[in-house]
Amino acid sequence: MNLILFGAPGVGKGTQSALLVEKLDMRHISTGDLFRNAIKNETELGKKAKEFMDAGNLVPDEVTIGLVEEVLKNLNGQSFILDGFPRTTAQADALDGLLEKIGAPLDRVISFQVPESELVSRLTGRRVCKGCGAVYHIASKPPQQDGVCDVCGKAEVVQRKDDQEDVIKVRLENYENSTRPVKEFYQNKGQFTEIDGTGSADEVFERVQKVLG
Ligand code: AP5
Ligand code: MG
Ligand code: ZN
Repeated sequence: MNLILFGAPGVGKGTQSALLVEKLDMRHISTGDLFRNAIKNETELGKKAKEFMDAGNLVPDEVTIGLVEEVLKNLNGQSFILDGFPRTTAQADALDGLLEKIGAPLDRVISFQVPESELVSRLTGRRVCKGCGAVYHIASKPPQQDGVCDVCGKAEVVQRKDDQEDVIKVRLENYENSTRPVKEFYQNKGQFTEIDGTGSADEVFERVQKVLG
C-alpha cells in the first residue's frame, strides 16, 4: 500500500506517519526530514535547501523532485508513505511519472483538516529531538523529563527553527497559495479522502485506519 499524507503545516502528517510505520512495514518519506538531515550533515542538498526552509518558503521544485526520485528509485518494492510531498502541482505531475517508472501505483491520498488557530498552537508548542527526530509538544505530548528525549535519552529536545511564529505565518501562506491546489489534483483522480485531524493523535489514527480498512 502506497500513501500520501497531505495537509497544512502542523496538521499531524509526521505524527500519523510514525504511528503507521509502527504497525506496517512501510517506508516513511518526509521531504522536510530529508532536507533537515541534509542541512545537519552540510551536504550540497542541505546548502540548496537551507535558506528557503529557514524563511518558511518552499525549496525549488527541481531540487525537491530530484531528491524524491532518488529515494523512490531505491525502494526495491517497499511500500511507502509520502509526507510533505507533493506540495505543488508540478511536484504532483512529476510524481505521477516517477511512480509509473518504478511501477508503484498510489493507493490513497489522506488529507487532514485542522483549524488554523490549532495549527499555530501545535507548531509553536512543538519540540523535536535533535538526536533521533522524535516529535513532542509542550502541552499535548511533553517528554517525561523536561528537554530530554524519551526515545533516545539525549538531552536535545529543541524547537525547530521554522516553528517561530513569524515563519509559521509564511509557511501557512505558502500552503494556501502553492499547496492547496494539489488537493484538487488528487480529488479529480478519485484517490482522495479528507478526514478530521482534530482530537488526540490516537483518535486521528483510528480515523486513518478506518480509511485504510
Ligand atoms: P515539513 O517538515 O514537511 O513541514 P510542514 O509541512 O510544515 O509540516 P510539519 O512537519 O510542520 O507538520 P506535520 O503535519 O508533520 O505535524 P506534526 O505531526 O509534526 O517541511 C519543512 C520545510 O521543508 C518546508 O517549509 C519547505 O521549506 C521544505 N519542504 C519540505 N517538503 C517540501 C516540498 N515537497 N517542496 C518544497 N519544499 C519542501 O505535528 C505538529 C505538532 O502537533 C507536534 O508537536 C505534535 O506532537 C502535535 N500534534 C500532532 N497531532 C496532534 C493531535 N492530534 N493533537 C494534538 N497535538 C498534535
Ligand atoms: Mg512533519
Ligand atoms: Zn531522541
